[in-house]
Amino acid sequence: MTDTTNATRSGDVWILGATGRIGSAVAARLAAEGLDPVLVGRESDRLRKAAAELGAKVVIADDIDTMAAEISRHRPSVVVNTIGKYAETATSIAHACLPGGHYVDLAADLTAVPRLLDLRQEAAAADSTLVTGSGFGVLASEAVVVKLCEGRPTPAAVRVDALSSVASEGGAMGAAYAASIVDAIAEGGRAYAGGRLVKTRLGADPQHLTLPDGQTVKSAGAPTAELLAAHEVSKAPTVTVTTALAPTSPVVRVVLPLAAKLLSIGPVRRFVTRQMAGAKMKLAPRPRRHSWGHAVITWPDGTRREGWLRADDGMDYTAAAASEVAARLARGEGKPGAYTPAACFGADVAVAAGGTFVLDD
Ligand SMILES: NC(=O)c1ccc[n+]([C@@H]2O[C@H](COP(=O)([O-])OP(=O)(O)OC[C@H]3O[C@@H](n4cnc5c(N)ncnc54)[C@H](OP(=O)(O)O)[C@@H]3O)[C@@H](O)[C@H]2O)c1
Repeated sequence: MTDTTNATRSGDVWILGATGRIGSAVAARLAAEGLDPVLVGRESDRLRKAAAELGAKVVIADDIDTMAAEISRHRPSVVVNTIGKYAETATSIAHACLPGGHYVDLAADLTAVPRLLDLRQEAAAADSTLVTGSGFGVLASEAVVVKLCEGRPTPAAVRVDALSSVASEGGAMGAAYAASIVDAIAEGGRAYAGGRLVKTRLGADPQHLTLPDGQTVKSAGAPTAELLAAHEVSKAPTVTVTTALAPTSPVVRVVLPLAAKLLSIGPVRRFVTRQMAGAKMKLAPRPRRHSWGHAVITWPDGTRREGWLRADDGMDYTAAAASEVAARLARGEGKPGAYTPAACFGADVAVAAGGTFVLDD
């Protein structure tokens, strides 16, 4: 990558949403690596306290437009967007990083991730690297696909399973999480068939998997960006995805089509989202020892390979993955364009973030 545009950049790494669970962990990790995180967010004691603890600078910005304007003005080297609502926030923040600045987010849905990847030509022309999906969601299964496909021809079919295990901190569910569940029910599942993205049922293709550590987990189809990433890195015409977050109970799966119809009515959808956002979640340890990304790949000659990526708590892994991607971009190791993490850096980035491959051979 040429240094002409970066020469005028500050060298700082900005963390948007630095008071949040992931943002605060990313800031602490980057500071521990000797980088200069700048904490960006709404004015609050929490933001000031977090910055004081790290000896970090603060940029106050109350909304997305102000954040984008401050990025254009100060020209940080890397921006890590942990605010969420990526379908709304990601492209305007990413645009503000051009030319020459780099961008990282943790999107994992099928609206935000393709929108960001659509900026690939603009980013390449501006000598910037944009990396979306830099969390357990996307990276853990994408990396297994990249690993299993290394040096091999295009496979016929890929199935990925995203099996995160996350401790619940208790408290309200929150608007972003509630909206992602409601959206998934309303939109149904997705798959690639004959190279084209097609609609499937939410909860399709239910799996009852025995994990390499002997524990078991159920998963089923949902509209998540692991699907798109697996398709992009493998080029397989048939790709399916399941997640441990999807409903697997037969009773729930029967009522889902009716729920989807009701949630297609705007006011109903908004009411249900509000009610769910306020619902209290119990404090609970993570349900399984490890989080796992999993891929099963079949080639046209019948060869079949299976692999896993083992991580611990899915949230901790997400913070580690975003930090690893941001640190690599800060060191100038990216390549111009827009990518998911393993498509940009190779499968090794998932190991550098603390994951371990368990492959069938
Ligand atoms: N890909 C994956 O595997 C993965 C895993 C985990 C999380 N995620 C995603 O990562 C995102 C962050 O998760 P989290 O658990 O860290 O969330 P969180 O704890 O709720 O933190 C969100 C942060 O964003 C800030 N924020 C939200 N809306 C804002 C706005 N309009 N203007 C300015 N600041 C705003 C909040 O600031 P205030 O303190 O001022 O409210 C807070 O600092 C979520 O979208 C989540 O879905 C992805």
